[in-house]
Amino acid sequence: MITTKDLTKVYRSRGREITALDGVDLHVREGEVYGVVGRSGAGKSTLIRCVNLLERPSSGTVTVDGQDLTALAGRGPRAGAALRQARTRIGMVFQHFNLLSSRTVQDNVELPLEILGVSGRERGRKALELLDLVGLADRARAYPAQLSGGQKQRVGIARALAGDPKVLLSDEATSALDPETTRSILQLLRDLNRQLGLTVLLITHEMDVVKAVCDSAALMKGGRITESGTVPELLATPGSELARELFPVGGEPSGEDRTVVDVTFHGEAATRPVISQLSRTYNIDISILGAAMDTVAGRQVGRMRIELPGRFEENVVPIGFLREQGLQVDVATAADPAPATELVKEGAK
Ligand SMILES: Nc1ncnc2c1ncn2[C@@H]1O[C@H](COP(=O)(O)OP(=O)(O)OP(=O)(O)O)[C@@H](O)[C@H]1O
Ligand SMILES: [Mg+2]
Repeated sequence: MITTKDLTKVYRSRGREITALDGVDLHVREGEVYGVVGRSGAGKSTLIRCVNLLERPSSGTVTVDGQDLTALAGRGPRAGAALRQARTRIGMVFQHFNLLSSRTVQDNVELPLEILGVSGRERGRKALELLDLVGLADRARAYPAQLSGGQKQRVGIARALAGDPKVLLSDEATSALDPETTRSILQLLRDLNRQLGLTVLLITHEMDVVKAVCDSAALMKGGRITESGTVPELLATPGSELARELFPVGGEPSGEDRTVVDVTFHGEAATRPVISQLSRTYNIDISILGAAMDTVAGRQVGRMRIELPGRFEENVVPIGFLREQGLQVDVATAADPAPATELVKEGAK
């Protein structure tokens, strides 16, 4: 649904060049909620602004719903109109809502329809329908200043939906909101995604947002995407930084001669009593050093850091047992003079 190929953006200001995007290949499938996370300055906002051509990429292509927007932006006197037309199929939601304070809620939602040249009566009908969809039908005549932050963002979302977009872009839509309001806005985005088949690309710096609503995620660093995939894929990727951040598990070994293992559970394996089976089968005492369980996109996933008595060599068989159960097992550290990386490799066999 959204594809960028080798997208770069170089800003030039006062003789200095800043590479905000450095060869970004993004692939968002139709109907999914896709989260892009990364530190401040990683290039997230630049990426989302390049996706709807608010920002002109320095090179590379952006395709949305089969249409090459970069080509539209490029050629001929009519390109502007064609791009504007294509943009109506892309809704955008902003961190600070960007509502016009002098207009009522309804008039704010009607604004993009005015620009599209939709007649007055049809505009009114559509705006009220959208306000109903976001749960604000009774506030149509209010002004933005009379609304809470969460309500303002609902107006922002209704406005973004005015052109019947297939794609919704959201840049930190919830970061100005408190946790409870954040949850309700995320739920709304999830509902719209399901009800309207809307593809959502959202930028966030909060891992909780990814956990709550995203099907897929990418990590950006220094203008590049360093990791990407569906959430279950990421969780199944050994050494994935995103997986670690989604399910942080801490815990230090209680002493020498211990093997510390990070176990990731997905789907059906999450509900089986694997740890107690392990303990019984090999007659070993297992300590849980840290754990995080959660439901991601309706599936139970989790991570657990456990400690087995003895060195890695003594635990090859129990670790093999865990792998046989379909669990992903990463040996975190091992009290052994050999380098840890060697052990991890050995363990992976
Ligand atoms: N208009 C601009 N002119 C010059 N440099 C810019 C411009 N916009 C962004 N940059 C630079 O590009 C880099 C990426 O910025 P961007 O806003 O995309 O980061 P971000 O990941 O969205 O950060 P944040 O989480 O703080 O919003 C930064 O180094 C930033 O200073
Ligand atoms: Mg930003």
